[in-house]
Amino acid sequence: MAKSKTVFVCQNCGMESLKWIGRCPSCKEWNTYIEEVIHKENSKRYQPFKPSFSQPQVISEISLGKEKRINTQNLELNRILGGGLVPGSVVLVGGEPGIGKSTLALQMALNLNQLKTLYVSGEESGQQIKLRADRLEIRNNNCYILSETCLENIFSHIKKLKPDIIIIDSIQTLHTDYIESSPGSISQIRECTVNLLKFAKETSTPIFLIGHITKEGSLAGPKILEHIVDTVLQFEGDHNYIYRILRVTKNRFGSTSELGIFEMQNTGLREVSNPSELLISQYDENLSGVAISATINGIRPFLIEIQALVSSAAYGTPQRSSTGFDLRRLSMLLAVLEKRAGFRLAAKDVFLNIAGGIKVDDPAIDLSVISSILSSNSDIAISKTICFAGEVGLSGEIRPVNRIEQRISEAERLGFKQIFISKYNKKEINFSKFNIEIIKASKVENVSSYLFV
Ligand code: TYD
Ligand code: MG
Repeated sequence: MAKSKTVFVCQNCGMESLKWIGRCPSCKEWNTYIEEVIHKENSKRYQPFKPSFSQPQVISEISLGKEKRINTQNLELNRILGGGLVPGSVVLVGGEPGIGKSTLALQMALNLNQLKTLYVSGEESGQQIKLRADRLEIRNNNCYILSETCLENIFSHIKKLKPDIIIIDSIQTLHTDYIESSPGSISQIRECTVNLLKFAKETSTPIFLIGHITKEGSLAGPKILEHIVDTVLQFEGDHNYIYRILRVTKNRFGSTSELGIFEMQNTGLREVSNPSELLISQYDENLSGVAISATINGIRPFLIEIQALVSSAAYGTPQRSSTGFDLRRLSMLLAVLEKRAGFRLAAKDVFLNIAGGIKVDDPAIDLSVISSILSSNSDIAISKTICFAGEVGLSGEIRPVNRIEQRISEAERLGFKQIFISKYNKKEINFSKFNIEIIKASKVENVSSYLFV
């Protein structure tokens, strides 16, 4: 008879214990230990496809050959992956439910017409996926759908089908017979991922894993999952808006500062190659309370619109509300305004909004936040040809920001006539090459007196 062992595993960090504990000594979370049964029987374990023994090699003698990348037919995705999908790599895509992970994966599979793709779904039936594919309106005769959750069965199908790319939707629904705990538990996730990884490396088949996200926003399952895979992508966005941002948080084959922007349409995700034009509303008239900021997200410069509404506080405590911008930073900027620009903080309600529903944590948008608040307060519109890029310090000084040249070129490219930046930029930067008028300011007062007098 097979020997079996039970252990208690922390569902948060993967720590194991022989007896139940109320609080995990490793991650300090309460009530996360669950009993899991592990068979000590090796026969059912994953069998390697091509057993190999590697030999130590001198690093200078390792030949690279030509690095092969698979073109995913999706420019944004290619760029995020560092120039295409690397054969044998495992990519984990995480994101909140309904954000579009399955759509992204299916769209990629359908677009890869020349390659045999296998889309394994543990969440949806074949018919449901077919409905989605019809919605995406892409024809493909080389994409196979498998509704299955047992890892051993999946491997037996893979052996027969020999797909070029595999998509697993989602890793949390898979289970292996080797471990008796329920699907989605730490041991199951870890075991399934490790086996898939071994398969990917042995056969050079790239695998896309879709992962759920916990309510705190991290990938469900322990950090271990992120350590095992080669690339971790985060799919983010606000459900009320159509924009979706794909971020790289780990990439063994490329940079982590890349960022992809998509638009969710009726026919699936569309790549947005020029985000600035979409994120700035195209009004004909000048409106007060609107300021444009030249921001950088990842390594991509784009312009975003900050909208502010300042009104007299109806009740004793003034209201502060912000979407897409840190509320504490807003309070700090308001305090700076009170001190420097005579803004009567206690008597005003302030509402701030970043258009497009995206979140920005680039300090360079401080100056446009301040300008939009002042503009709404005085009800004087800022000309649509002006934009801003500067961080604001506690004493109202405007501080230089990184990659200022990229920000200026983006503003110039989009036809802006003036840009406000800090006076204290590095000496080496050559501003004379730009046609756009660059206004260097050292204090918040200078900007407000320039704009609103
Ligand atoms: P889905 O890919 O199922 O999300 P996830 O796998 O991350 O849970 O995306 C579902 C959402 O996307 C759903 O709310 C409907 C929307 N959607 C569109 O707007 N257009 C489309 O063409 C498709 C396929 C989905
Ligand atoms: Mg899904």
